[in-house]
Amino acid sequence: MYKILVTGACGQLGSVLVKRLRSKHGEHNVIASDIRSKPDIEELFIKLDVTDSNALEKVITKYQIKEIYHLAAILSAKGEESPLKTWDINIKSLLNVLEVSRLKNVKKVFYPSSIAVFGDHIDRNYTSQISCLSPKTVYGISKVAGENWCQYYFDNYGLDVRSIRYPGIIGYQSLPGGGTTDYAIDIFYKAIEGVEFKCFLSENTSLPMMFIDDAIRATIELMRAPKELIKTRSSYNISGISFSPAQIVESIKKLLPDFKITYKPDFRQGIAENWPSSINDSEARGDWGWNSKFNLDDITEIMIAELTKKNKIKTHNV
Ligand code: SER
Repeated sequence: MYKILVTGACGQLGSVLVKRLRSKHGEHNVIASDIRSKPDIEELFIKLDVTDSNALEKVITKYQIKEIYHLAAILSAKGEESPLKTWDINIKSLLNVLEVSRLKNVKKVFYPSSIAVFGDHIDRNYTSQISCLSPKTVYGISKVAGENWCQYYFDNYGLDVRSIRYPGIIGYQSLPGGGTTDYAIDIFYKAIEGVEFKCFLSENTSLPMMFIDDAIRATIELMRAPKELIKTRSSYNISGISFSPAQIVESIKKLLPDFKITYKPDFRQGIAENWPSSINDSEARGDWGWNSKFNLDDITEIMIAELTKKNKIKTHNV
């Protein structure tokens, strides 16, 4: 087995993906890297700023990396606080990954895109793979550019880059940071603490979402699919479920009937209104067999059970 590098390994997806890849390919074949450090990924962890191409090249050479999952990025809501910095980090890091991969003979690269690539002039219901991409956030603009750069490296250099447009990811392992879809995680923390949740989106704003297990499985299935099945080299739409704050509240109340929410939409409402409410992922289904498994009530049940467990451990240790 060859060596794999994960950037952004301390993030919401990265921390779970590293564990999953290690259990599949062996502890010592997966190098976790991030600009910050996190105590639970101690093994083979490297502090790495991917915007520094020399530092990246050294890691690729030293460990003879043949596959990269480039997850480091600034997300939608956080990105709006400093647009130029977000563009710089998101694009510089991707270009470094693509260029070093080309020069150092990396076999495969994974690039996470997002539903944030969509904006005006789309059909928000069941948005197609091939749609107008005119995002309103700097994060979305960087992801559209990133998708095109992936296509460019595939077309011109034959680099095997594969990509998914993730919906909002819901998981209990770590907190997300700076996304518009993050309310759908924070809400569970408040629910198990018995605290009223102040939602920054309005009641009926429906967005595409996915449970973290589905997102990780999609990533690994795409990366392991035979090369000839991968027909889209910009990024694949993938769909899990879609729900609004009102629907997630209904699901939570089946288990925690006293749960309370108030709505106080802020600038993130504007971001959400520009995104699809559901996704047509027929290309991913047809090309490499994608199929999601978790519905809203499954997710609610797991989130409440896992976060309650975590909370008990925390309370016990205090
Ligand atoms: N979850 C991301 C965000 O909200 C979308 O890809 O920014």
